[in-house]
Amino acid sequence: MSESGPAISNLQADGAEYPPPPAFAAAARINSRGVVTDADADPVAWWEAQAGRLTWDTPWTRALDDDNAPFYRWFTGGTLNVAANCLDRHLPDRGNTVAFHWEGEPGDTLALTYRDLHDRVCRFANALAGLGVARGGRVAIYMGMVPELPIAMLACARLGAAFTVVFGGFSAEALRERMNDFGATVLVTQDEGWRGGKTVPLKANADDALDGAPGVTHSVVAQRTGGDVNWTPGRDLWFHELEAAASPDCPAEPMDAEQMLFVLYTSGSTGKPKGIVHTSGGYLTGAASTHANVFDLRDDDVYWCAADIGWITGHSYIVFGPLANGATSVMYEGAPGHPAQDRLWGIAERYGVTILYLAPTAIRLFMKWGDQEPAGHDLSRIRLLGSVGEPINPEAWEWYREHIGGDAAPIVDTWWQTETGSIMISPLPGLDTLKPGSAGKTLPGIHAEIVGEDGQPVAGGEGGYLLLTHPWPSMLRTLLGDDDRYVSTYWERFPGKYLAGDGCRQDADGDMWLLGRIDDVMNVSGHRLSTIEIESALVDHPAVAEAAVIGRADPVTGEAIAAFVTLRDGFEGDDRIIAELRDHVAMRIGAIAKPKSIVLTPDLPKTRSGKIMRRLLKDVSEQRNLGDVTTLANEEVVSAIADMADAMRGQED
Ligand code: WTA
Repeated sequence: MSESGPAISNLQADGAEYPPPPAFAAAARINSRGVVTDADADPVAWWEAQAGRLTWDTPWTRALDDDNAPFYRWFTGGTLNVAANCLDRHLPDRGNTVAFHWEGEPGDTLALTYRDLHDRVCRFANALAGLGVARGGRVAIYMGMVPELPIAMLACARLGAAFTVVFGGFSAEALRERMNDFGATVLVTQDEGWRGGKTVPLKANADDALDGAPGVTHSVVAQRTGGDVNWTPGRDLWFHELEAAASPDCPAEPMDAEQMLFVLYTSGSTGKPKGIVHTSGGYLTGAASTHANVFDLRDDDVYWCAADIGWITGHSYIVFGPLANGATSVMYEGAPGHPAQDRLWGIAERYGVTILYLAPTAIRLFMKWGDQEPAGHDLSRIRLLGSVGEPINPEAWEWYREHIGGDAAPIVDTWWQTETGSIMISPLPGLDTLKPGSAGKTLPGIHAEIVGEDGQPVAGGEGGYLLLTHPWPSMLRTLLGDDDRYVSTYWERFPGKYLAGDGCRQDADGDMWLLGRIDDVMNVSGHRLSTIEIESALVDHPAVAEAAVIGRADPVTGEAIAAFVTLRDGFEGDDRIIAELRDHVAMRIGAIAKPKSIVLTPDLPKTRSGKIMRRLLKDVSEQRNLGDVTTLANEEVVSAIADMADAMRGQED
């Protein structure tokens, strides 16, 4: 590629636009551009005002401390208690308001009011204190989506102890590695979880993991299924017994704004997971502010983020943001297709959900299951939809709006990362005109830039590297135990600016179009193409349920586009459809984007959070060794794909 050319070519045509419905805009929390321009002119003042949403025990003396950049600190000198902000301060006015409408997979339910949650968190905090957990302590949590999970997180926050949640779908080995890296002394887990009608042996996995984690002295076990578990006396303790025996009186002590709140491990470009460090005052400010503004939250909303708390989305938008705002949320334990493919819509109807926040991969799954599933339920209370985790292709966006949003609800496509702690780029639903496939603009107080290889801003409309150019309160503080990797991963390539690792372009209106991870960018015959554009074009074909595109090494073109496609039920996978799909992409984007090969597969390899593992597909295509696949959810798919790798060669022209 020439130095002067665009860093990332973008060939996607812009399509439909949806201005905010007038009634929605009139009542929205933010409906004037002036709020945004003021915030952008003075981001620190904006964030100070947002921190005013919280209750501080001691006011900060300095909002942004950049003396030791990029080790930024926010609200220094300030103290607060995160759990008190999520619970205690709501008791006078909203004590009897439901915090969580929890629904178990087998159909059992529990409504937890703010008062209930406060009582249980205080008890469990005292129980943890009895196990030696104090300010600065370290607790690992390995659970399914049960009420005890947020209770454990909030109990740690109340004590000023840091926690790390390890997603319940991870293996014993992944748990062991994280507990050791984190330095956990206590593990909170459960007997078993429910998933798709089957039990998940969480305690058995945890027992395995504890074998190689000598620093962990106690394992607290919530009883969920009542299934048989092995028991190590002295080490293992029942959650419910500790809770019942503990005092409900646990005064919330003020913590430093920069007290570590949690570490969340995320995969990087090497095998070793990165421990993303978040602290208290800044993180909660970011989560609360964005949750209120992006989701336009009001008192009578019933909000549902159907993610897993094991990921950052669940931390910020199931637990901390909503609770800091006193919201009423839905929390669901199990699989979306259990016992039937309309499970989510039944839940949304039952609790009168008004705001729903989902991942594109889930939306595409629901599309595949068919329009009749949501159509059988009354979803008329839904007034706002959200999307997070990967770029949403316009076809899925339109389906989501039509079939879930009643052809009216705005969709906020929210771009952010584990590292950013809270949403960075998203439409404001009462202000912005929506474009399917675009995440809209940076939120108030967030500054971004799109640059080329040389660090210079790209010309209008061209793709490049997405940078965040001004620090924000909920940003990661470092990588646990590895300040050097923190600096080299995020701050070195474009000094003083945060490298998000995503490609992006900005259109003439200032709207952002995310182009996937930088390593998902292909270089085909000198054109840098985003995988997501081609995936979008494929999914746009009526026969396609899901598609993943990678660039595989090619002696002629540098990289050749290889596509992996799952067909919708009822479509025949034959040579004719493959030819049709290639032509379809050529028609949608141009001949340059035509996949050189298309492999039809019953499923795509995904991480447990639902992200397509493109790197693995690349390895299969290039017939390399598979490397680390421990985060792979559906391993049998890999061999199915490998079997088909040969078929690819026959299609090349
Ligand atoms: C991707 C999830 C496009 C992106 C909150 C980012 C998105 C990575 C979007 C972070 C979006 C997330 N549009 N891409 N709306 N949201 N991503 O850490 O590549 O699990 O860098 O955080 O997901 O994933 P993570």
